[in-house]
Amino acid sequence: MRTIVVDPDQPDADELRPAAEVLIAGGLVAFPTETVYGLGALALDPEAAQRIFDAKGRPADDPLIVHVRPHWELDLLFSEVTQEVRALAAAHWPGPLTIVGPKRDTVPDVVTSGRPTVAVRAPSHPVAAMLLDLVGLPLAAPSANRFSYVSPTSADHVAADLGDAIDVLVDAGPTPVGIESTIVSVTGGRLTLLRPGSVEVAGAVADDTAPSHSAPGRMDVHYSPDTPTRGLAPGAAIPSGDAIGVLIGYADSHAPPPGWSFVSLGERSDTAGVARRLYAALRAADLAHPDLIVVEYTGMPGTGAAVDDRIRRATGSRTS
Ligand code: TXA
Ligand code: MG
Repeated sequence: MRTIVVDPDQPDADELRPAAEVLIAGGLVAFPTETVYGLGALALDPEAAQRIFDAKGRPADDPLIVHVRPHWELDLLFSEVTQEVRALAAAHWPGPLTIVGPKRDTVPDVVTSGRPTVAVRAPSHPVAAMLLDLVGLPLAAPSANRFSYVSPTSADHVAADLGDAIDVLVDAGPTPVGIESTIVSVTGGRLTLLRPGSVEVAGAVADDTAPSHSAPGRMDVHYSPDTPTRGLAPGAAIPSGDAIGVLIGYADSHAPPPGWSFVSLGERSDTAGVARRLYAALRAADLAHPDLIVVEYTGMPGTGAAVDDRIRRATGSRTS
């Protein structure tokens, strides 16, 4: 694996070009987006896209998100570009919103896991944007972690998980949002919230009746550390027991029992800061190999609700 270090705010096209050339040749490049690091390959090349599944150990039935520039023609990917899709893209792109719509035949089945729909987003991170400009074609990119582990918010996280399996790692430091994009489906003229994120979409309602696998992260445990991980109600104290662990909480959390470590995600009400720090805290706690990790829910709306969704997934909704 080759690492290319770039300035997150003002990447240099000459420095990024080798990464673009690897992608154009069908290779795998991990790169930062504003949410988390992605593991990218050409979306319209089935062999390149298949390499993503092989590198991650990702099941073939878990479809990929396709990344574009906001001004690219959406009918390259969607069979029908409705008013709703245009309005969502105009309001939120570039940014952390993924739109699921009916796919065109040009999108390989491997990318969508055989579904009639494709998930598309236009990232706002300057490095992701420049890479897309240099390649000039859509890039499929799931989060660049090993399957079912915590998403990567720094290049170190990517190297630890996938270092041997990728061709190039573009390192532009920590990602500014820290949790994955909001996913909204607009098939059938209705807006359905498939995954909450930092972007809130008016009128998108969660579809809790969707069968598992039809919506992201509905699988019981996802984004989770190897250490047993439990949730804690907002403002609650850890019940005393004999396990010694790590509490991940906030500036106003109850002190954990004696012997425990405490990691603060900052002020609970600073939900953007909490989202930015959550995954690095989970990974660091896991590396310390405690008996137990306990993560306190924020209990906050908006981005707080998206963070709480990720805590539910990391813990499989188990509480301590
Ligand atoms: O912020 C993000 O979205 C990051 C960055 C790299 O862009 N990507 C990301 O990808 O989180 P991934 O693969 O880790 O999660 C994408 C989710 C998956 O759970 C997948 O099931 C869902 O999107 N997905 C993809 N295509 C879909 C489709 N056609 N219908 C429903 N869900 C879809
Ligand atoms: Mg993922």
